[in-house]
Amino acid sequence: MAYENILVETRGRVALVTLNRPAQLNALCNALIAELNHALDGFEADPGIGCIVLTGSEKAFAAGADIKEMQDRTHPEFYMADPFGEWDRVGRRRKPIIAAVAGFALGGGCELAMMCDFILAADTAKFGQPEIKLGVIPGAGGTQRLTRAVGKAKAMELCLTGRMMDAAEAERAGLVARIVPAADLLDEALKTAGIIAGMSLPVAVVAKEAVERAFETTLQEGIRFERRVFYGLFATHDQKEGMGAFVEKRKPSFEHR
Ligand code: CAA
Repeated sequence: MAYENILVETRGRVALVTLNRPAQLNALCNALIAELNHALDGFEADPGIGCIVLTGSEKAFAAGADIKEMQDRTHPEFYMADPFGEWDRVGRRRKPIIAAVAGFALGGGCELAMMCDFILAADTAKFGQPEIKLGVIPGAGGTQRLTRAVGKAKAMELCLTGRMMDAAEAERAGLVARIVPAADLLDEALKTAGIIAGMSLPVAVVAKEAVERAFETTLQEGIRFERRVFYGLFATHDQKEGMGAFVEKRKPSFEHR
């Protein structure tokens, strides 16, 4: 498939997807989301890929869902087409995905970043859910994921006023894992992805699944899940290799099995 709205490359075991509609500040049209999912389907199926970085441009990670594409939709059209069902697929990926965010991450852009496993933010990043200014509310998980990430008070304020928060505020609030200088963002994201891709892939997938459980279930159930998969990892080659390498004072060589 030839992509028109994203750029895709691989660097060793890391895949890099760059949102590429610069004239529209990477507004997330349906075609872009379809291309993104097509690319992610390929990376999920490729055993040679261990981590994915999703980024945008210097000015915008993404300025939201494409308002021009949406504005004339009717309720039945929107309801039946359910475009955000396709967005959801991004958030259900099994391999780790890092969002590397510079500039605007607004509306659907913020929601897309939050579907990733964590956000590395440039010091230029700006996050917000400004949909209320358009006469709507976030529709791709913003009211839920933002609230879980930053708590009710700040999520409520952001969703009701539409104001943006800068990278420092987003880090303080727990929305982003780390802030880096804008010029270093991509290098840092690729370096971090390289570290993750160097771990055992099945173990990384299990770790991701276990952390996600914390948002979906009770503490007791989550702990039970964690314990079961922890014990289960002793069926892997990479557990033997990882612990063996520690004891033998050498670097582990994971085989992703
Ligand atoms: N959809 C479609 N086009 C968009 C867009 C969007 N979300 N955001 C920006 N663009 C387009 C602009 O229309 C403009 O195109 P033209 O040159 O053809 O007019 C181009 O990108 C550049 O934008 P601006 O001239 O506005 O750039 P700026 O630097 O002055 O402002 C901005 C930047 C503050 C991000 C401003 O563009 C903006 O407010 N964008 C909309 C943000 C927004 O409301 N996002 C939420 C969308 S709804 C949504 O996402 C629903 C959901 O939950 C999924």
